[in-house]
Amino acid sequence: MNTGRPLTRRAALGVLAGGATAGGAFLLGSDRLARGAAPDHRLQASVLDYPLRGNQVTKGMMSFAAGGPPPVLRLRRGEKAVIEVVNTLDEPTTVHWHGLRIPNHQDGVPYLTQWPIMQGETLRYAFAAPDAGTFWYHPHCNTLEQIGRGMTGVLIVEDDEDAGFDRELVLNLRDFRLGGDGQFIEMFKARQAARGGTLGTVMTANWREAPTYDLPAGGLVRLRVVATDVTRVYRLSLAGAEARLIALDSHPTPPAYQPEEIVLAAGQRADLALRMPETEGETAVLSTRLSNRSVALARLRATGRNAGRSLDELRPLAPNPVAEPSLADAEVMPFVFGWGPADRPASSICGTLGYTFWSINRRPWSGDLPQAPGAIAVLKKGRSYIFRLRNETRYSHPIHLHGLTFRLLASDRRKLPSLMTDTALLQANETMDIALVADNPGDWAFHCHVIEHQKTGLTGYVRVE
Ligand code: C2O
Ligand code: CU
Ligand code: CU
Repeated sequence: MNTGRPLTRRAALGVLAGGATAGGAFLLGSDRLARGAAPDHRLQASVLDYPLRGNQVTKGMMSFAAGGPPPVLRLRRGEKAVIEVVNTLDEPTTVHWHGLRIPNHQDGVPYLTQWPIMQGETLRYAFAAPDAGTFWYHPHCNTLEQIGRGMTGVLIVEDDEDAGFDRELVLNLRDFRLGGDGQFIEMFKARQAARGGTLGTVMTANWREAPTYDLPAGGLVRLRVVATDVTRVYRLSLAGAEARLIALDSHPTPPAYQPEEIVLAAGQRADLALRMPETEGETAVLSTRLSNRSVALARLRATGRNAGRSLDELRPLAPNPVAEPSLADAEVMPFVFGWGPADRPASSICGTLGYTFWSINRRPWSGDLPQAPGAIAVLKKGRSYIFRLRNETRYSHPIHLHGLTFRLLASDRRKLPSLMTDTALLQANETMDIALVADNPGDWAFHCHVIEHQKTGLTGYVRVE
């Protein structure tokens, strides 16, 4: 029941006490929980002005650090890490750890797994990441605004054993919607939200336009590329250096899988092993293909004497301990991604865009509310499932599932590589089968990662119990 009044914290707690939510051990954003030993990492949700374009200062950016872009967090696989989040924004937030298979109450989804972290509050997340690889973190509250203004950070879970790289380079790819004066323009256009999504105007890597990085000539570099944009599908290629794809969405890929172009939709990650050019000053260029041209996203410039390394010296990445679904006795669950009724969603302290355009199984998400609607599917813990994802729209949707990792099985339109992932780009009118073992209990958000779609109906959750 939504009264239309802004939800106060007291009211929210009242709702919890009244048992109107799924219950469970919610994280409370309170200073009370913030004492004790020093955290391993500290994120400060902040508003800042930052010279995104040369010396043009963009006002009202948002980050997880007071002075600049969100930090790259590095965790050790299997070791508990405490990450303290201080909210100095003027609005509530939460932090979601995209791709991590961690306990549900650490997942960072408002009302589904925790209360929002209110302005001025501090909250500690604590978890051990079971998988190594390239992940990222972002808010799940007022998500279009907060991500749109900059709150996307890369999270790396280190491999147990080093593969033998000389260097590592992290590229956080995203667009900002800025006008000619370098200031933010409207975060989205409704007519685009009802279609493919609104694109940004300035493409960046690590909050810079086509930055150049110096790396050892002839050296081996691990490039971790993360698509944290709200909308864009990147079509990446690397020119000027020998490179191999080694992982997608945190999970090692088969050596033979070397696509011509790496397609990364919003939320996806690619790890590349590359050998730098041998001659000092030579550059390799990572670019993305648009319909009529290519745009350079980052340049890697060789420096120093030729290190003379070879890609064959690298040890393969170890697979992550993801359970393999048993297809023979998997239950098939259909999901339809379609249009929504032209309703207005309920207002929420975690923001609403004011429109409903999309739905899952004919149900549009009503907004981030203390009383979550029912799950779109209930899974039995430990069982294998095939999700049959049917897109009945003319737009593609990067479909993302929290807390669980799935394997791509088959599509009615193309041959799919057999990859493990948490985000699959479902093409227009495509039906895709994916498979998973429901081994992580809880309520797991399931949504399109085009944030305008997520926020205008294309969201739900599955319950594993
Ligand atoms: Cu990066 Cu709910 O997702
Ligand atoms: Cu996620
Ligand atoms: Cu979508």
